[in-house]
Amino acid sequence: MIIAVDGPAASGKGTIARALARHFGIPHLDTGLLYRATGIGVLRSGGDPADPQAALAAAGFDDALLDDPALKSDLAGGAASIVSAHAGVRAKLLDRQRRFARRAGGAVLDGRDIGTVIAPDADAKLFVTARAEIRAARRHAELERLGMTTPLETVLADIRDRDARDAGRAAAPLVQAADAAMLDTSDLDVAGAVAAAIGLVAARVGPSPA
Ligand code: C5P
Repeated sequence: MIIAVDGPAASGKGTIARALARHFGIPHLDTGLLYRATGIGVLRSGGDPADPQAALAAAGFDDALLDDPALKSDLAGGAASIVSAHAGVRAKLLDRQRRFARRAGGAVLDGRDIGTVIAPDADAKLFVTARAEIRAARRHAELERLGMTTPLETVLADIRDRDARDAGRAAAPLVQAADAAMLDTSDLDVAGAVAAAIGLVAARVGPSPA
């Protein structure tokens, strides 16, 4: 059973994907981390994320980088959204994501193109979204918890930039799959969003864990 969870930055898709993985007893892959690792790799090597060659070289990162707390920063998120527009980078990271998706017991993947490109045959697809101001406020609170102080207006501007880049790129743009169920979490708390997500997925795959 493959569950695809897509949506824009800070929509709650990561929290929802982790909760779905727990509920259905299957592993979860946050595919944004792969692009964040690539973005940070380019910056650390002194390269420019907009340079396709530098980005492609960085996409061959060591798995240990996936545990680096620096991947959570907005710097990494911004670099990720730039390297992720290169078709070569996306192609390089594709196999790894597909292998994870096809694991025997099933999997939950969250990202931008899971239901459209990585696993178009997923058993259940969610498109999780929320208003930009709400997403910025959530992201701001999360950054504060991590000890990173960024003004709310900067976080909101970053989110808007990222939305525009993710939706506007030619390679696998952020778009709701035709067969995805939309979940707007703007007016839901975490428990409410998770319950709604479980309900939507259960409607497609049945209520009990796989
Ligand atoms: O989800 P997260 O904010 O960690 O993703 C960081 C960036 O990586 C996104 O803004 C997007 O540009 C890119 N990304 C992508 N495809 C995915 C996951 C993330 O292009 N499947």
